[in-house]
This record gives sequence, structure tokens and C-alpha cells, in this order.
Amino acid sequence: MADKKARLTVEGLDGAIELPVYSGTEGPDVIDVRPLTGKGLFTYDPGFVSTAACESKITYIDGDQGILLHGGYPIEQLADKSDYLEVCYLLLNGELPTEEQKTVFVNIIKNHTMVHEQMSHFFNGFRRDAHPMAIMVACVGALSAFYHDSLDINDAHHREVCAFRLIAKMPTLAAMSYKYSIGQPFMYPRNDLGYAENFLHMMFGTPCEEYKPNPVLAKAMDRIFVLHADHEQNASTSTVRLAGSSGANPFACISAGIAALWGPAHGGANEAVLTMLEEIGDESNIAEYVERAKDPEDPFRLMGFGHRVYRNFDPRAKVMKATCDQVLKELGVENEPLLKIAKRLEQIALEDPYFVERKLYPNVDFYSGIILKAIGIPTSMFTVIFALSRTIGWISHWSEFHSSPNRIGRPRQLYTGPKMRDYP
Ligand code: CMC
Repeated sequence: MADKKARLTVEGLDGAIELPVYSGTEGPDVIDVRPLTGKGLFTYDPGFVSTAACESKITYIDGDQGILLHGGYPIEQLADKSDYLEVCYLLLNGELPTEEQKTVFVNIIKNHTMVHEQMSHFFNGFRRDAHPMAIMVACVGALSAFYHDSLDINDAHHREVCAFRLIAKMPTLAAMSYKYSIGQPFMYPRNDLGYAENFLHMMFGTPCEEYKPNPVLAKAMDRIFVLHADHEQNASTSTVRLAGSSGANPFACISAGIAALWGPAHGGANEAVLTMLEEIGDESNIAEYVERAKDPEDPFRLMGFGHRVYRNFDPRAKVMKATCDQVLKELGVENEPLLKIAKRLEQIALEDPYFVERKLYPNVDFYSGIILKAIGIPTSMFTVIFALSRTIGWISHWSEFHSSPNRIGRPRQLYTGPKMRDYP
């Protein structure tokens, strides 16, 4: 399997250690460092900056070129020509569906959209002002107490059914977390609607009158789902893989992924961007915030800028910006002050040497919040929508992990605590 060999010499050790080097279909070669353990050595890579933790066929990112591929297909093409459920099929199966396969898949998802009626009782335990992400962590984890018919992780069919349930039920649970916070009745899913339309119906519909989703907004919502669907081994996906590696319940693993996503350095950035834009408030205040972001003594960062992998541009951000323009035009709010601040901020950051030298470009979260706000989605729901979209990525990686030979994830450490000593 090794295409090449690397030779490592270590001071104090005789001779070179030979390490296999593997080549993927795209991207950098990887050095197999496992033989080092036998020599009493570990590798050290806090933040996993240069560690390939697994082999995967699902998604590829070239951060220098600003390329994101799912099953080999560029994200721009998927956003333009495909739709979320088709991308779900692609991520789960590695190939785009035929027309017939797609019809079957869409129907299966539609047949799983309801959650067990008892799930609604879980919501009553939360305070009205509970953050919807807190509710999602709990309620998606709670799914592990239901659906015992699909919990054999070694059974490929069970894994598939589990994925269907998650894709179908996440919009229902997400909308329930919103309805609970505003004191409105939960809306049951409507299977005559498309995936994004149904989500908008459950969010904004009421039992009092029929809700007619605006097709432009539904399309924008679907595109937001597509753009967030997967992003290879990011913090939340790696969390799901690691939790899954112990053989844990899949719904509990997804709940762990939601928790990892919540932080502002990851999925929580979309909420943080909007809060930041509102705090800036006026174009005249931008310079002050840019200076704060550059000050090493100030923990403030420009939210929605920078990415661990993209060092050129985030291809998702370009599509998101175009979608943002369409949505604001459709709603007749092209002069939305927050958009003006966002565009000016982007322009300043793209020219400022601090951001240019560090290759800090707007990321996917920079424009998504403005679109979501325009659609009428409250800020606290932004990261929930990211979680809803990313669930397919998480479960595809979880499934890939269990479909191939695997072992529990167990990183090592550089121990710098006290040496062994006797208890006084
Ligand atoms: N504003 C100001 N300075 C920044 C920013 C920022 N948004 N991001 C990075 N830097 C600076 C950082 O201070 C450091 O400077 P120096 O070399 O002088 O110490 C340098 O750029 C490298 O930063 P880093 O923290 O080592 O980079 P990282 O790869 O560990 O972090 C990141 C990546 C996304 C967490 C970070 O860029 C960040 O905090 N961005 C803001 C939050 C955000 O928008 N997150 C969403 C990511 S995209 C959605 C997703 O996939 O979750």
C-alpha cells in the first residue's frame, strides 16, 4: 500500500526509522507514523494541524486553491445544479442518485419526518429562554432512547435507517426548538412540501392559517443546507468519529457533534457574526473593530473571517454572498444596513496587511447570518441551522468509520506534569 518511504533520524537513536508514505487521489501525501510507537516515540500536533486522523472518500478540500469537493463534485456546481437531499444521497453513497434512486430516497426521508410524540415532553423541561442549541444537544441525544430497531452499528441497513431518521427529523426538532422559545404550538411536518419548504413551514406556519413558503427563500434555505452539508475532518465531524469509535449510540454521537459545533470558533460563528455586525452598528465604527481584531492584547476577533484550512478563499462564502444578494433583492431590503457594514468590513479586511498576510478571508459564516436574518430566522437559531445541515456530513463519516476496519480513537500526549512521587 505504501507508495514511498520516509526516513527519520532522531538524535540519540541509532539508524533511520523507515516510515511508509501513502498517496491519496488528491492532496498531500501522508506519512504513516505508527511505527514510531515501537521506537518509544509519539508525534506531537496540538490542534491536529498536520495530522490525517483517518482515510476518507467523502469530501476533499484544497485550502490553498479554495476548492471543496463532495464525491469529486465542486461545491459551486452542487450549489447551482443540485439540491440538499441529492447532496445527502451523494455524501452517504459516494455517487449522485439516478432519477429513480432520488425519488425513492426523497420519499424515504419524507416518511421519517415526524418525531415520536413523546419527544415533545422533553421540551417542557427547558426554560423558555433556553438556547436552541442547548435544546438540540439534549433532544438529538434523547433520540438514542427511541428507535431501538436501528441501533446495531455493525448492520449496514441499521446504519442507513439511522441516517434517514436523522436527515428527516433534524428540521422537525430544529423548528420545535424555535416554536418552544416563542410559545407557539409545534407544527407537524408536511410531506407534500420539499425539504427546505417543509422546514420553513414548521418554523413560520401556525395552525391558524396555511403558510405558503416563498420559493426564492426556500431555494436560498436549501442552498444554505447544501453549503454546510459536509467539510471533512473539522472539529465536530472529528468529534462524531471519535465518539463513534467507542461503539456509542449514533444519535448520542451526533449530539456530541452538535456540542462541538456550538462554539464561536466553529459553527457558532454565524450567530457571532450577526451579533458583531449589530454591535458595530454603523460604518463609521468599523475601523475601531478592525483595530481591536488586530490588537494581540485584545481577544476580539473578526467573526466570519479566517479558516484553518482555507488560505485563499472559502468557496462557500462566494456562493453565500451571491445568495445573500438574491434574497435581499427578493425581499426588497437591498439597503439593509447590516449588509452595508458587512460589505465594507470585507473590503477593509481584504486590503488590510494584517488580514492579507495571515490569509484571513471571509468564511461561509460571514454572509449566512444576513440571509437567515432576512428570512426571519432569529440569531439564536443560526447555529441550529448549521447543525441541521451538517448532520448528513456527521452521519456519513460515522457510517464510513463503521463500514471499514476500525479501532477506538485514542490520542497520546506529551506529559509535562510532576514525575512519579510518593504520597506524603
Ligand atoms: N480576526 C483576527 N485575527 C484572526 C482571526 C480573526 N477572525 N482569525 C485568525 N486570526 C489571526 C490570529 O490571531 C493569528 O495571528 P498571529 O499569527 O499574529 O498570532 C493568525 O490569524 C492565525 O490564527 P489561528 O488562530 O492560529 O488560526 P486557526 O487556524 O487556529 O483558527 C479559526 C481558525 C477559524 C478558528 C480563526 O480564524 C477564527 O477564530 N475565526 C473567527 C471565527 C470564525 O469565523 N469561525 C468560523 C470558521 S468557518 C465555519 C466552520 O467551518 O466552522
